[in-house]
Amino acid sequence: MATPAAAAAAAALSFPRALSPRLPPRRRRAEPASCAHSERGVSFDPGSAFYRSDSAAGRDLAVLAATLHRRGRRPDPSVPFLCLDAMCGCGVRALRYLEQAGADFVWANDASDALRPVIVNNLSRFERAPNRRWVVSHLDATRLLAERYLRREYFDVIDVDSFGGDAEYIRAAFLALRIRGLLYMTSTDWRSARGYGSRSSLSSYGAYVRPLPYPNEVGLRMLIGGAAREAAILGFHIAPLFSYYAYHGPIYRVMVQLCNGKQDGISNYGFICHCKSCGQSQTFGFDELGQITCGCADTTDANSITVVGPLWTGPLHDATFLTEMLSLATEWGWANTIENGVTLEKLLGTMIEESDSRLPPGYIRLDEIASRAKVNSPPLGTLINSLRKEGYAACRSHIGANAIKTNCPIGSCIEVAREIRNLR
Ligand SMILES: C[S@@+](CC[C@H](N)C(=O)[O-])C[C@H]1O[C@@H](n2cnc3c(N)ncnc32)[C@H](O)[C@@H]1O
Ligand SMILES: [Zn+2]
Repeated sequence: MATPAAAAAAAALSFPRALSPRLPPRRRRAEPASCAHSERGVSFDPGSAFYRSDSAAGRDLAVLAATLHRRGRRPDPSVPFLCLDAMCGCGVRALRYLEQAGADFVWANDASDALRPVIVNNLSRFERAPNRRWVVSHLDATRLLAERYLRREYFDVIDVDSFGGDAEYIRAAFLALRIRGLLYMTSTDWRSARGYGSRSSLSSYGAYVRPLPYPNEVGLRMLIGGAAREAAILGFHIAPLFSYYAYHGPIYRVMVQLCNGKQDGISNYGFICHCKSCGQSQTFGFDELGQITCGCADTTDANSITVVGPLWTGPLHDATFLTEMLSLATEWGWANTIENGVTLEKLLGTMIEESDSRLPPGYIRLDEIASRAKVNSPPLGTLINSLRKEGYAACRSHIGANAIKTNCPIGSCIEVAREIRNLR
């Protein structure tokens, strides 16, 4: 049953005219043959929609974050909790926000109206009229979000699971988001993220990206940086709650929280410089633009330095939030199961370690350390422990399987690798 508060919230929203009960019923296409899928106990029919079971971990993370947000991280937890799924496909996210995250109301939208029977069928286990807990529409996402803003209808969670790397919706999404609300962004544009589409990364996210040895982390930072810039234009700032790269697709996802007021400025927004010659990476702020050099002995090769940005150079995640997500996943029995090759306990545990504020952007692949040290690759765990013993921050990367994140300079990493192999 919808609560009175949820019903009031739903009544206050302006539903698409096509859904008004006063209009004659729309002619519907035949319902698709039932083909039940299930995610964490919620069954649904993907029908003809684009649906990937590989993306279930991304949806798990969204549900966990939305639930924590509903439970206590909102300015007023007594206000009905509203979610908007702007590119819903078959509606699986909308369904999971209703059933698992306890949303009072979900707006499910997909540009394709051919998907209407599938989405409606999946959501129909929840009440619709008169105390409706959901609505389905078929608008372009940016138009839908802009309309919500114009009508002063603000949401707690907005999820835009887009194809490609189109970022045009970001500003409209922030405008339709409650302050302190969550925006879940997606990009599948690996070319831009990895530096093979610099024009498109520039036009979409304002970042000039070139290939670096840790391209998929750069992809996440490009997305967050784009969101930070859009938020700043509107007088807000953002806090990344988690950033998730999944190799299938590949897919880059970030969950950011919209925070009131401009921040100090640009301390987490700048440039990453990588030196091909020595392997060292560094970050530079806007005020250091004229001073970008590596400092290694090799000043002869002008092409050894690659600079990308501006993008997000701050933390990829919020460790406290991730720790709460892991507790909730454990409470719900989600933490230790292997779903499509992903164990949430392992994934969230690695992300928590990655949140160490001492860690700079990027990661170093073990084979690069080994080749520079001219030794066989040291075992990953041994290298991390040795670096920690030396006083450095070091951990695995959830992005690069055979890589470490560390604040140890590359030269010292090489020495430690040689020590491990007893060559020093
Ligand atoms: C990646 S699929 C969504 C998958 C779904 N969110 C899930 O988790 O299974 C992207 C969806 O966006 C829809 N779409 C593409 N461009 C759109 C736009 N500009 N506005 C709204 N929907 C759009 C497509 O029809 C497609 O169903
Ligand atoms: Zn160098």
